[in-house]
Amino acid sequence: MKNQIKINHRINPFNKIINVNGDKSISIRCVLLASQAIGTSKIYNLLESEDVINALKSISKLGIKYKKFKRYYEIKGFGLSGFNDKKKIKLNAGNSGTFARLILGLLVNFKNTVTLIGDKSLSKRDFSRITEPLKKFGAKLSSNKGRLPVKITGSEFLRPVEYNETRGSAQCKSAVMLASLKTPGLTIIKAKKSRNHTELLLKYLNIPIKISPKYNHDYFKIKGENNFKGFDYVVPGDISSSSFFIILTILSKKSKLIIKNVNINQTRTGIIKILKKMNVNIIFKNKKFYKGEMIADMIIKSKTKIKSIKCPKKMNSSAIDEFLVIFLLASKANGISSFEDLGELNKKESPRLNIAIKFLKMIGIKVERKNDDIRIHGNPHLNLSGNYKIKNFRKDHRIFMMSCVAALTLGGKWEIHDKDSVYTSFPNFFKIIKQLGGKINWEKEKT
Ligand code: S3P
Repeated sequence: MKNQIKINHRINPFNKIINVNGDKSISIRCVLLASQAIGTSKIYNLLESEDVINALKSISKLGIKYKKFKRYYEIKGFGLSGFNDKKKIKLNAGNSGTFARLILGLLVNFKNTVTLIGDKSLSKRDFSRITEPLKKFGAKLSSNKGRLPVKITGSEFLRPVEYNETRGSAQCKSAVMLASLKTPGLTIIKAKKSRNHTELLLKYLNIPIKISPKYNHDYFKIKGENNFKGFDYVVPGDISSSSFFIILTILSKKSKLIIKNVNINQTRTGIIKILKKMNVNIIFKNKKFYKGEMIADMIIKSKTKIKSIKCPKKMNSSAIDEFLVIFLLASKANGISSFEDLGELNKKESPRLNIAIKFLKMIGIKVERKNDDIRIHGNPHLNLSGNYKIKNFRKDHRIFMMSCVAALTLGGKWEIHDKDSVYTSFPNFFKIIKQLGGKINWEKEKT
């Protein structure tokens, strides 16, 4: 089978109930924190995607044993100094920026040297944002001009830091939080608001963390060197994976979708607030709290009259992984939608802002760009009939899945490359498309 697919038909109306895979951010954090606990942790519904498998393989190289059972993964930790640091180690983070940045936080006390590498896409991403704050703890870090490979040698004499996170990056905030666990004294963090799964988990694990929320920022004080016990955790469904099926349903005719058990933590629901402003109402049912997180079933219906949006900058962080599909919806809206200050989008698995603009222009949508601000001229009558080829996007899983949603809802004949990219974050993506009745042609290798 070739690594490309063809989509030549719009999806027919559907009325279905689905489950998406477990949340990627929470899965990676559970693996990393379980590796630091004393004793056994059981993680249910762990996302079995390449990013998370790379995290599991890496902790195993660091001496932590894990075992897969039918419904959960068991991980056995030996506490905050429990990595086996008898020899030099090379870790491969694959495509995962989250794992790569967070593991560096946990290596600040590693007595030997770890070399961290990744795939082509990860090797193009910035690591100075993480090496610089971690150096302040006393660990030694070097990189290839701010890129991978990064080498880290930990220190026995860590000192707490005061860190100001200004990008709204949960990865930077979390890496420093993880380093603080190993450091005596009080680490103080001021961070622009971003997803808060790390701090919620630390609270749940009874680690001394004080959180003071302010309007745009949060302040944290974390007292280090407190070991914690193994824990059980059931990972909820991923809202970022759900977003492809949310937009697919909105743009399909006469369809309805229920997505069960999705994480609707406020720091992740920017897309829901943005949709509301665009005249699309997503209903939450069976809301419940789980270990600090909020979970619900989502009900989504097709919508024809979509309003354009002037998207407030303060929503950028809580919708950061959903902008590709939000742009797609904006291309069917009535009027001009504007988005500001989206430079961080170009720092993801691919330069997503640049690629999204090219994509929208390819499907005949006018886009204006000024630095990192864009204006999308929506066309409610957008109906495609041409041929479209999606190639050379650094195998970015979210570009691939957004292209499939466009192909299944807008018409035209599509050839979309690098289908295996879905395994980075969403292994059940194709299974769910099939469940909803979407037709995908799997390209056969010519013999
Ligand atoms: C993530 C944080 C975000 C997000 C990424 C996952 C995390 O990145 O884009 O997919 O789990 O912390 P940044 O923190 O770099 O914005």
